[in-house]
This record gives sequence, structure tokens and C-alpha cells, in this order.
Amino acid sequence: MCGIVGYVAGADTSGAKDIIINGLRRLEYRGYDSSGIALYKDGKFETRKSVGGLENLEKLVDDPEFDSYMGIGHTRWATHGVPSNANAHPHSNEDETVTIIHNGIIENYLELREMLAEKHGVKFKSETDSEVIAHLIGVNYEGDFLQAVHKTVDMMRGAYALVTVCAHEPDKIIGVRKDAPMIAGIGKGCNFIASDIPALLEHSKEVLIVENNETIIVTKDDIQILGADRKPVTREPLHITWDVDAAEKGGYDHFMLKEIHEQPEGIKDTLMKRLKDDDTINLDGIEMTKEDIEGFNKVYIVACGTAYHAGLVGKAAIEKMARIPVEVDVASEFRYRDPFVDDKTLFIAISQSGETLDTLAALREAKNKGARILSVVNVVGSSVARESDDVVYTWAGPEIAVASTKAYTTQLVCMYLIALFMGKVKGSIDDKYYKEIIAELKTIPGKVSEILNREGIIKDAAERFFNKNDIFFIGRGPDSGVSLEGSLKLKEISYINSFAIAAGELKHGTIALMDEKTLVIALDTQDFLFEKMLSNIKEVKARDAYVIALAKDGHTDIEREADEVIYIPECRDELTPLLSVVPLQIFAYYVAKCRGCNIDKPKNLAKSVTVE
Ligand code: M6R
Repeated sequence: MCGIVGYVAGADTSGAKDIIINGLRRLEYRGYDSSGIALYKDGKFETRKSVGGLENLEKLVDDPEFDSYMGIGHTRWATHGVPSNANAHPHSNEDETVTIIHNGIIENYLELREMLAEKHGVKFKSETDSEVIAHLIGVNYEGDFLQAVHKTVDMMRGAYALVTVCAHEPDKIIGVRKDAPMIAGIGKGCNFIASDIPALLEHSKEVLIVENNETIIVTKDDIQILGADRKPVTREPLHITWDVDAAEKGGYDHFMLKEIHEQPEGIKDTLMKRLKDDDTINLDGIEMTKEDIEGFNKVYIVACGTAYHAGLVGKAAIEKMARIPVEVDVASEFRYRDPFVDDKTLFIAISQSGETLDTLAALREAKNKGARILSVVNVVGSSVARESDDVVYTWAGPEIAVASTKAYTTQLVCMYLIALFMGKVKGSIDDKYYKEIIAELKTIPGKVSEILNREGIIKDAAERFFNKNDIFFIGRGPDSGVSLEGSLKLKEISYINSFAIAAGELKHGTIALMDEKTLVIALDTQDFLFEKMLSNIKEVKARDAYVIALAKDGHTDIEREADEVIYIPECRDELTPLLSVVPLQIFAYYVAKCRGCNIDKPKNLAKSVTVE
């Protein structure tokens, strides 16, 4: 997500500006929409910020007078509030004695904002959740910066890597970490704080990892860590041997693998930050009454590629939970088929980038016909988000690999939340069902981690089958949609001819292609379709195809029919797509790796398709 760099050296030195901006440049690969820097000068912190690339910030600070021995800098990936100069970090309190940069999300920022406005008359300059932190530290300051920071974080709920400086104590940078990465780097006569290792690799290979709920106080000569109990902690630095390229990928060989591994976190963020204490869903303030929902006679879900596959799962969820007919369409088809859309239509666009031209054009078509537009988007402030009536953001963080992984699973979480929300408001699901699904959703991040722990088994299969020319994916019900995604993943990064089909359709033609050279990946995760899928596996086995099945733990009957089985943790049928896709992503990744493909940037593909 956002990038953080802080630097402090001796007061008789300068050069903080270049060190901080170069550090931010090392974090550019993560994606950002604006940036900013605050340097200590003449008794206060002077802040400059700009939307767009770092080159815009560089122009703004191209002034030899604007430099210092210490400061903090940030690249922002928008979550609360559009990308703008005002929303860019750093943020300061009103008298500019406290300046902060922040990664993460403050869940209770609205109530803190209200309190600051009512009790302290604070006038906010941005729409961000982060700005409240600067004001809070300001009002909590009673002569001791560290105490003010601790008092402030005790009032905050959410996730944060918070880095702050104070004009009253300009020799130090204080950082606090909760569920967002933070590290410190040991320099010579200077020290660093950052969100990620690449930011400081040029200057330091000795790194201290800050753990959850720890505080770090960085001065030119010392880095002090305080534990969750606020008592000093001793920690040995890590010696980093990675080069910058490896460090950007967090030690993984490719962004795709890194992003696959980020899914437990992404799913957790997207889900948990929308659940109130009583498990009711706060769908980002979207107002949709029972009358509104009953007024929709149809829902269209429109998207492209992986996002379209997420739509297929969304259709099943909305139809089951909100009992409204849903059509899913690829955007490039929808826009040219004069669809039945009017003011009784709910149109849901799904897009990671929010800039896919086909999706945008379909959205405009539906809007012109009077539909209510709800979008599920990853990039805040993107065109799809801006042109929608309501937006539910997938808080997946920047997705860099062309092959979409964490965007898909977080899109699924949003679709389940939308379906549950609509079903609850409409009254088409009862409390018991609602609670069961929410409880199950909460187990998903842990179960995805469990699958990631089984990565070796999937890698082993990939290493044995990477030379296949044709790989088929089959499944029924929700498994059939996930098969499409597994097949797309495989073909886009490994260039293997792959095809996905609803298992029941095989006998109507496609089964003619099966022979001893064919590998079939058969998804059989649905309890009520388990036996039916066993028959489909038998069908392809009878044509000598080799079958790798995917089933839930304990469903060992499948071993009688399939040649081998990859198991996923037990899970309710409705939610298995959140799990079953993960082994398919891993399989595609290792097949492509064995074939020596350019995994993060496959040939002929772009991350964001802004052409028709
Ligand atoms: O940014 P979007 O979600 O709108 O992109 C849609 C598709 O182009 C995208 O999902 C594409 O299919 C991915 N490369 C799949 O991995």
C-alpha cells in the first residue's frame, strides 16, 4: 500500500530531502497516487505535497533552501478520500507542531473526527482518516511527545504504521505499528524508519523489524523499541542480503507469488473493517433501504477477465441471499447488446484497476438508462469509482502482477458482503443464516493461510505436469466459476492451452477431446454435488485422462476416482470459491515458473486494459 520513509541525522548536516525522495522512489513499484514530504526547517516542519508521480513532488521541492537534517515522506495509495493535494500525506495539526504520515485504516476515525471538531473546534483540511491522528497528538500533547503519541494510539482502532514528528522535539521520529509493516534502518551518524526494506537499502543493510503494537523512537544515534507494554525491548538487527529487486518483492521471486501470499491479510482487511462489533455490515455508508432493494427487478454484474469470474460468484450469492435475479456479463458484450436496463436495475461493475475501458463504457451505458451504479473497485478515485453512485472498495492494496490474485479474492469478499447486506435489509435471509455465514467468513483468512502452508504439494504437481499441452478445468455450481478463473490464470502466465467447462456439459461435446495426454483438474468442493462430480471424474478417466481433484478435507472418497487429490480446509459450500481458487493460483504460478515464463508481465497482456 502506501510508502513511508523517515530520516534523521545530525542537526549540522543536510540532504534529508534527497534521501527521503530516493527512498520513496524505491517504493514506487507498490503503486501510489500522490506523495509528500515534511522537513524540519527554522523551528517547524514544512510540508510539500503533490498528486501524481514523484516527479511532481520533485519539481515542488526543487529549491536548495528547502532541505534539512531530518524529515518524513510518504507515497499515498488512496483509501479514504480521492487522490488530491489535500488528501496526500503528511498531515499536520492546526498549529503545525505535529506532523504525521500513516499507512493503514483508522476504523473509528469518524467518531474521532466528530469529537475533535466538537470539543476542540478542529477544522479539517482533508477527507482522510489519517488527519485525525495529527490533531489528536496535538491535543494530547502536554510537554511529552511520546506520551502524546501513546495516548493517541490508545484512542485509535484499526491498522496503522504511524510515523510522526513534533516541532517541540525535532531530534526524533516516533513510529507505532499495528497490522501494517514498519522497519528501522541503522545508518552511520543517521537512522531511518520505513514501511519496507527497499526504501533504505541504499543506505543501510542492518534492519530492525518492528513488531505489532510496538513503538519505535528513532534519533540520529539510537533506535529504541518499546513493546506493547511500553517497556524497552532489545532486538538484534537483521543483516539484509537481498538486492533492491528482491527486496521490492519482499523476498519472493515474483510479485504474483507475493500477492498470492498477501491474500489472508487482504481478505481480513476487506471483511473485518466492515463488520461492526455486533457483526452488522457497514457497507461504506451505502444507503440502500428495503424499498430500494425490493424495487430492483434485476441485477446486472458486468466486468472483464478475473473480475467477471468474481461476478459469477457474486451472482450465486446475491440470488441466494437477496433473492433477486442476477445476470453476469462480460463488459465488451454487454455494451453492444442493448441490454434491458432501466431505473429498476442495480448495475454492479467489478474492476481492480477501475480503468478498464470496456467496464467503464458498460457502466456509462447502464447509467444513461437510469440504473443505480454500484462498483467494486480496488483503486480509489479511479474512473469506475468516480462515475458510480456507490463504491465498495476491495482493500487488497496495489496489485502489481498482471495476473490478478488478491484482487479476485477480495472482490469475492465484497460480493458476499453486498449479498448478505441486501439479504439482511430485505429480510430474505434469517438471523441464523446471516450469523453462520459471517462466522464462516471470519475463518477464511486462517484457512487460506492453511492452504498456503500446503504450497509444496501443489508445487510438486506443477513440477510434474508443466509440460502438458492441454489442461482442462471442470466443476459444478460455484466450482464451475472457479474453474474458469483457474484456467485463465494458467493460460495467461504459462501459455498452456487451457479450457474450463461446467462438468455436466462435457458429454455434450468437449469430452471428445479427452485422451491419455489430457490433464483434468476437477473441482469437487460442493457437498450437494459431490457424487455428481465423482461421475464426471469417472467419465474423463474412462477416456484415459489424468485427473487431479480438488476436494475438502475429509472427503477421501474422491481418492477412489481421481489419480491424485489436493485438499482444502472444510468450508460451507457457498464460500468455497474463496479457498478453492488459491491452489489453482499456486499451480498456475509454478507451472509458469517451470516453463521459464515471464510471470509478472506475461506476453501480450497489460495490467490495465484501457483500450477497447
Ligand atoms: O482492472 P480490471 O479488474 O477491470 O481488469 C479486468 C481484467 O483485465 C483482468 O482481470 C485480467 O483478466 C487479469 N489479467 C486476469 O488475471
